[in-house]
Amino acid sequence: MKISSVIDFSRNNQDLFLSQLKDFIKIPSISSSPNNNQDVQNCAKFLYNDLINIGFTNVEIIETKKHPIVYGELFYSKRLPTILIYGHYDVQPVNPLKLWTSPPFEATIRDGRLYGRGTVDDKGQVHLHLKAIESWLKVHKKLPVNIKFIIEGEEEIGSENLEPFIKENKNKLDSDLIIISDTSMIKKGFPSITYGLRGISYFQLDVKGTSQDLHSGMYGGAVKNPINALVEILSKLRNSNGKILIPSFYDKVRKILPSERKSFSELPFDEVEFQKNIQAPKLFNEKEYSILESLWCRPSLDINGIWGGFTEEGSKTVIPSEAHAKVSLRLVPDQKPNEIETLFENYIKKISPNEINIHIERMHGGNPFISDITHPAFKAASLALEKGFGKKAVFIREGGSIPIVNNMCDVLNVNCLLIGFGLPGENAHAPDEWLDLDNYRLGIESAIHLYKGLSEVKF
Ligand code: BES
Ligand code: ZN
Repeated sequence: MKISSVIDFSRNNQDLFLSQLKDFIKIPSISSSPNNNQDVQNCAKFLYNDLINIGFTNVEIIETKKHPIVYGELFYSKRLPTILIYGHYDVQPVNPLKLWTSPPFEATIRDGRLYGRGTVDDKGQVHLHLKAIESWLKVHKKLPVNIKFIIEGEEEIGSENLEPFIKENKNKLDSDLIIISDTSMIKKGFPSITYGLRGISYFQLDVKGTSQDLHSGMYGGAVKNPINALVEILSKLRNSNGKILIPSFYDKVRKILPSERKSFSELPFDEVEFQKNIQAPKLFNEKEYSILESLWCRPSLDINGIWGGFTEEGSKTVIPSEAHAKVSLRLVPDQKPNEIETLFENYIKKISPNEINIHIERMHGGNPFISDITHPAFKAASLALEKGFGKKAVFIREGGSIPIVNNMCDVLNVNCLLIGFGLPGENAHAPDEWLDLDNYRLGIESAIHLYKGLSEVKF
């Protein structure tokens, strides 16, 4: 089966593909917002229709306790490798709206970039696989591999309902390799294979003091202010060098191999440029590690938000009755979210002042992931990316999390290839998220090569 005609087809249909991607972006499928439940449903339906139109079989919308999973397959022969492609169609919230140059769900092109929520994370990257598959089918009526395509609507909220689905559908999802495009390249022009991701544990802390707000003159000095208490607690989570103070927290952190350190140091990454791009007054990381090592191989703890009390204009002398914070930890191999969550809870209870009540809610968690790059699929992926981008692929790890990856690999007993087409600075989760349109096009072409390359791998 000639590949050049498939590539030509994808090139000749760029405008059509892009207009379809825009329609996909325009659906505000924000998984964390109950107000958008119908949009999430509509987005699943949009994908369902596209899978049918492309020619997938056994296409289904699978309802879950929250948002649906969309599934379709192209099965030709048991003798061919079966590739499971996973992605997500849900997106993050869009506030603060006023910081967007164009509305988040308008899908606007400026300077070779497609702007909108979900353009890079992850709709654009799901779409490029769909269009690579469509190109194969239009030209040759079949692909050189069997494909199973699963797209979920809860990745951005922890993939809670996907996990049981995978466990209950091992046969359906039986495959030789998982491919995910939901990560980034280290730099434009440098196609990248991601072999490690951090895990996550996410909490909400609710501190309760008195039954109602109090006059701070009539009560100040006689009762514990919940915001003061919360700040005390939060200030004990890390020391001023950034070390996390939870006892036993670092016990299972895997050491960085000297060979890995060396390979990181050879990557096209510039700490000064990194700092400049985000306009940070100064970077802040553990002294013994480089920035990439800190981001990819070391755990971190961040307060994501904190609220309570009086924040309006003017002043109000008040002791608020409650205070809240969201706290997340990024985990690395071999830390386990469950174990870390217990350590975190015990520590918070220990350091909480006894004049207040604290409630700790475990919101979601996901295991860190690291894959075996000696698996032959990595060689095939590397060649496919080289053909697509005209440049040798680099091997990287990343600091973000895809909560299902590790469990999906364990349950299905397969390896996972993370090949992402995002770029640093694309503002995922932030205002003005964008997708580089060269990467969208070259991503399609690389995926076209990849399916062919994988058809020659012995699994
Ligand atoms: N696409 C990202 C994961 C990612 C981000 C990989 C950066 C590599 C680099 C994914 O959609 C995501 O944002 N995941 C969340 C998961 C969380 C909400 C459970 C994350 O990492 O915050
Ligand atoms: Zn995301």
